[in-house]
Amino acid sequence: MAKVPLVDVQAQYGALEEELDAALKRVCRSGQFALGPEVEQFERSWAAYCEAEHCAGVSSGTAALHLGLLALGIGEGDEVITSPMSFFATVAAILYTGARPVFADIAPATCCMDATGLAELVTERTRAVLPVHLFGQPADMDPILAVARRKGLAVIEDACQAHGALYKGRKVGALGDVGAFSFYPTKNLSAFGEAGAVVTNDPELHARVRMLRNHGQDGRYRHALLGYNYRMDGLQGAVLNVKLKHLDRWNERRRRIAERYGAAFASTAVRPVGEAPYARSSWHVYVVRCDDRDALQAHLTEAGIATGIHYPVPVSHQEAMATCGVPRPSVPEAERMAREVLSLPLYPEMSDEQVEYVIETVQGFFSDAG
Ligand SMILES: Cc1ncc(COP(=O)(O)O)c(C=O)c1O
Repeated sequence: MAKVPLVDVQAQYGALEEELDAALKRVCRSGQFALGPEVEQFERSWAAYCEAEHCAGVSSGTAALHLGLLALGIGEGDEVITSPMSFFATVAAILYTGARPVFADIAPATCCMDATGLAELVTERTRAVLPVHLFGQPADMDPILAVARRKGLAVIEDACQAHGALYKGRKVGALGDVGAFSFYPTKNLSAFGEAGAVVTNDPELHARVRMLRNHGQDGRYRHALLGYNYRMDGLQGAVLNVKLKHLDRWNERRRRIAERYGAAFASTAVRPVGEAPYARSSWHVYVVRCDDRDALQAHLTEAGIATGIHYPVPVSHQEAMATCGVPRPSVPEAERMAREVLSLPLYPEMSDEQVEYVIETVQGFFSDAG
């Protein structure tokens, strides 16, 4: 067992055990296991938290992306421009609709979509742009939104890693037409299993998402559309209602750790992926870039510090993309990033001693090497 894990998914249960147990019991006693009042309460709270008009609770972040795209009318023959650096779910959701992902390279400072050159990727088939707020760092939305408005494209934000992140003082998620969140157990706000949400300010998109997540029903056993079983569980809604009250405090602790790391690493050869001047990150993952990444990772592993690589291969270069007939794009910044990135432990329950141990071990790697 690592002395410092990358994340600790049990810690929050320990801290909130009584309240969580009571919430779970409430659902078990009510029998409202699929959607129901706990999910409805969470939808109201999450919409308010995201400064959005509407929220629909769904079964995962992947489902949220899929439904967001479907609600926008995206399907067979369409193109959606996205980032090559993300979890695979981003492109899977595009492919599920029958549309084709097209890749804009990343901006090296944020590792999010670079809007320079975005307009040149637009064809007569392009219907939407799907930026990803990677690691909790908001993508630079204004130039993306400007291209989208000029070219008549929809914007769907993948905010699955960015709960509570701010872009120019505004919460991410409803900056475009629709936003997708994941509450997977490792996320800043996490369920006891799989869950997600779609947020929007558009009442029609919201109504379509609500129907599509529930087999296209617009009334009991009245199926107006071909939809899916993408409902959020009542138990997950109950867990999220308890945890949401703590999200800002947890994000603040993440920020303090990130700031401590950033200050300490300034004198080393690692280059942290930091906040853009316009942004307030949710610090979902703390990522550094390092020319000698594999050796640094081995050094940390040896010292009992767990690390991750998000991500070792751009999604555009995954084998599955070739099997789906998606041509490999030229995205040199994403390729470089895949060779250089290393994720260090960062979670709210991390002790100051653990943080200092990670810092000393990283610094030790460079003094040993020097
Ligand atoms: C950027 C990104 N997009 C989409 C997803 C998919 O979310 P989920 O695992 O809840 O389906 C994730 C989470 O794993 C993610 O990190």
